[in-house]
Amino acid sequence: MHIIVRNAKCQGHARCWSQAPDIFKLDEDGYILPGNINVAERDEFLALRGARSCPERALEIDRS
Ligand code: F3S
Repeated sequence: MHIIVRNAKCQGHARCWSQAPDIFKLDEDGYILPGNINVAERDEFLALRGARSCPERALEIDRS
């Protein structure tokens, strides 16, 4: 699974990071770093929770 990061939508809410700081990395201003995120199987639960917590829908789940 991976997470498609839509940087243009990120408003710096940091809810993703607060759910899973090892998966969602923020820059110094609190915005998600660019680049899609590959998620190991053992981290999927946390990654899903973090991605779904984004109120801007900046984190799209891709299971392909
Ligand atoms: Fe940005 Fe959403 Fe996370 S607005 S910092 S991707 S919770």
